Amino acid sequence: MRTETPQPIKLAEYRPPAYLVDEVHLTFRLEPNTTRVQARLSVRRNGEHAEPLVFNGERLKPVSVAVDGRVLAAGEHTIDAEFLTIPNLPAAFTLETEVEIDPENNKALEGLYMSGGRFCTQCEAEGFRKITFWPDRPDVLSKFTVRIEADRKFRHLLANGNLIERGELPGGRHFAVWNDPFLKPCYLFALVAGELDVLEDKLTTMSGRTVDLRIFVDPGMAGRATYAMDALKRSMLWDEQAYGREYDLDLFMIVAVRDFNFGAMENKGLNVFNSSLLLADPATATDLDYERIEAVVAHEYFHNWTGNRITCRDWFQLCLKEGLTVFREQGFCADMRGHAVGRIKAVKALRMRQFAEDQGPLAHPVRPNSYMKIDNFYTATIYEKGSEVIGMLKTLVGPDAFRKGMDLYFDRWDGHATTVEAFIECFAETSGQDLSDFFVWYEQAGTPRITVGGRYDETTRTLELTLTQTNPPTNGQETKRPVPIPVTVGLLDLEGRTLAFERDGQAVDETVIVLDQPEMKVTLTGVDAMPVISALRGFSAPVVMTTDAEPKERYVQLASDPDLFNRWEAGQDLAADLILSRAAGKPNEVGEERYAEAVGRALNDQASDEAFKALLLSLPAETDLALLRSPVDPAAIHDAREALRRRIALHLHDELRRLHTGLQDLGEFSPDAAGAGRRALRNAALDLLSATGRQEVADIASGHYHAALNMTDAIGGLNALMNIGGPAFEEALAHFFEKFQDEPLVIDKWFALQGRDPSELAIGRILGLTAHPAFDSRNPNRLRALVSSFANFNPARFHDPSGAGYRFLADQIIAVDRFNPMTAARLVDPLGGWKRLKPELGRLMKAELERIVAIEGLSKNVYELATRALN
Ligand code: TRP
Ligand code: ZN
Repeated sequence: MRTETPQPIKLAEYRPPAYLVDEVHLTFRLEPNTTRVQARLSVRRNGEHAEPLVFNGERLKPVSVAVDGRVLAAGEHTIDAEFLTIPNLPAAFTLETEVEIDPENNKALEGLYMSGGRFCTQCEAEGFRKITFWPDRPDVLSKFTVRIEADRKFRHLLANGNLIERGELPGGRHFAVWNDPFLKPCYLFALVAGELDVLEDKLTTMSGRTVDLRIFVDPGMAGRATYAMDALKRSMLWDEQAYGREYDLDLFMIVAVRDFNFGAMENKGLNVFNSSLLLADPATATDLDYERIEAVVAHEYFHNWTGNRITCRDWFQLCLKEGLTVFREQGFCADMRGHAVGRIKAVKALRMRQFAEDQGPLAHPVRPNSYMKIDNFYTATIYEKGSEVIGMLKTLVGPDAFRKGMDLYFDRWDGHATTVEAFIECFAETSGQDLSDFFVWYEQAGTPRITVGGRYDETTRTLELTLTQTNPPTNGQETKRPVPIPVTVGLLDLEGRTLAFERDGQAVDETVIVLDQPEMKVTLTGVDAMPVISALRGFSAPVVMTTDAEPKERYVQLASDPDLFNRWEAGQDLAADLILSRAAGKPNEVGEERYAEAVGRALNDQASDEAFKALLLSLPAETDLALLRSPVDPAAIHDAREALRRRIALHLHDELRRLHTGLQDLGEFSPDAAGAGRRALRNAALDLLSATGRQEVADIASGHYHAALNMTDAIGGLNALMNIGGPAFEEALAHFFEKFQDEPLVIDKWFALQGRDPSELAIGRILGLTAHPAFDSRNPNRLRALVSSFANFNPARFHDPSGAGYRFLADQIIAVDRFNPMTAARLVDPLGGWKRLKPELGRLMKAELERIVAIEGLSKNVYELATRALN
């Protein structure tokens, strides 16, 4: 057991920094095990009082500390495991420090480390303190000049900003000097050194400046960066058009690295990407990879304004940059690939990750008010719900005031570190609205529950809507206030035609009701026929809605709702009801047939596109269904869902076969939305067919796999074969490994696929894969490919009645925590669900959490999450 309990950091205790650093010169003498870092800082006292200087510094071997050119003696400063402290300082001075660090043995992948023989850095959130002594907090903004010296075999020497000098040095070494003219917090610092190939391009900005674009990748891989480059250029143009924001340096660089704790990082002028989110070609990347690359390239690029030019005052404000940047990213992706499909995918992800978080012990507000390790708060709540909150803000103030508010925000706060309050204030000003109630969305955790019911009066042709909201308690927040919930509502008649109506005397097809009280009544007039209520269109708020709609009304929506989100949602609601009643032992076979029939009709709708139809074919995820009832019996949900899949497959067998044959890729591969949509529908059809388990489908899947001309179809075929199991699957699995063994990103897919195998016999194979020679838990991609895919996307086996799944996850967390706490902590989440599970499973899961918490020397990261999961 650990002896001292780590103390939480609180938003309420924010104090401005005692010292600011206006300028810094850093010199790196790079060596894999003994890198020297010299820092010369212009420091200025920030407050009135001469407080001691306390700078962060961890895992640094100090060489010297000097103030105004004089080396400090032992009694003039102290250095412990976390801080450099110097008392008695003047109001302004130069601080010079030199430290030694060991990048090669840095397996936490924070600070300066080595990946694939190259040096790279990751400083967000608190990694810069592992590079040099520094006030490591986002409200200290400085101008950085960086000199890098290294052996010439590290051919490219990169840092933020502009290259101002480079040259040769004796002893086979060389150097480069970079200057970043923009003020930035240290978490945006980056350095990369090594042998790389580069893909180059140019872009002219709206003011006519030319920007050089460079993407650096492993030697031989430049051809796989073309899609990322294309996505980058489209992102840059989109930000000019949508937000009037142009890029501000003459050079923009991206570097791909294989060992990376997250997806990507927005360092000023030098983004660093996990190679899985950058490299793509048809043979090795799926359509989903292409889609994610486009989204993440845009996301990191958009941070240049929302995050870098304007950053966070403290880490509690993380959603200020992340939620807003996800919102901008989603706007871009919708414009690139279609609004309805984009929205459905965003909501699926929100439900699967964020709603689950809200229902578990790790629930926290979009702006938390306390944390132990900020790394633990890069969550779906901060990112995805943070984006939803911005979307509601836009709905509430309207698009004009929203855009003006963004302009005001950029004007007012450019070059500063600020808060969520300051951001919201901009929209209060441009809209003239009082947004103080809106702020509750940032402070209150949990998913609001709303109900929408209607009473139609034929004689007066009025519809009286009753809306309610409740806000269930979450861990640490027992009582809640109502939040303003924008509920977008439209009406259909029973034939599915749009039914116009009047709200406050105005004729409309659609209206936004702001539900800001526990209960509210709204009367719509001029309603000429018995209506079907289409509420929460476009998923206008991140809430769980229940209505008193009959299945027949849902079927009207599934066939004809002009709001495509609600059309899809109606199908999901119907399917969820059918699966849950089957799981509860009350199968509704007539209902299941009717559902299959309706899905078949929707597939034949000429007006909707293939990507949308693919989404219609996919049933709610097992994890989503588990959120709807407790105690959760994962096996029952899995079996019931499979039963419905089988019934749809049998019912629509001919139709699905026709789709599978008819949608085969002809001609050249294109990663665009239309091509991806066709492949998605074809693979979804095959996936459903495989639920029948028939030999005939195994043959089709085998043919599909071996004929695949791209990775999307290869994985689609393999997945269908896995659903059926048996020798054809074994053969294809071995073939796939053999074929791609030298392609790390593809071998990740090989592990991930097997991690998702739900068959009862799979558990032995999955647990055994950690002993496979290609498994390497030091590489986060490989680790997550197996362990996260298993724990998050294979509920049937993760919740194996033996408890072996929980034990496996806990073993991995404990092992990885010894060298990479940030990544180990990101595996804890699936263990948070024990309270909602049926008791015999919940007990087994809880025991694993207790085992973790008792480990000697556990990191703060894992300790924080595991203890929260337990209480
Ligand atoms: N800021 C990054 C993003 O938005 C994510 C990030 C945070 C990150 N911490 C990190 C990435 C640590 C890598 C490692 O995309
Ligand atoms: Zn981000």
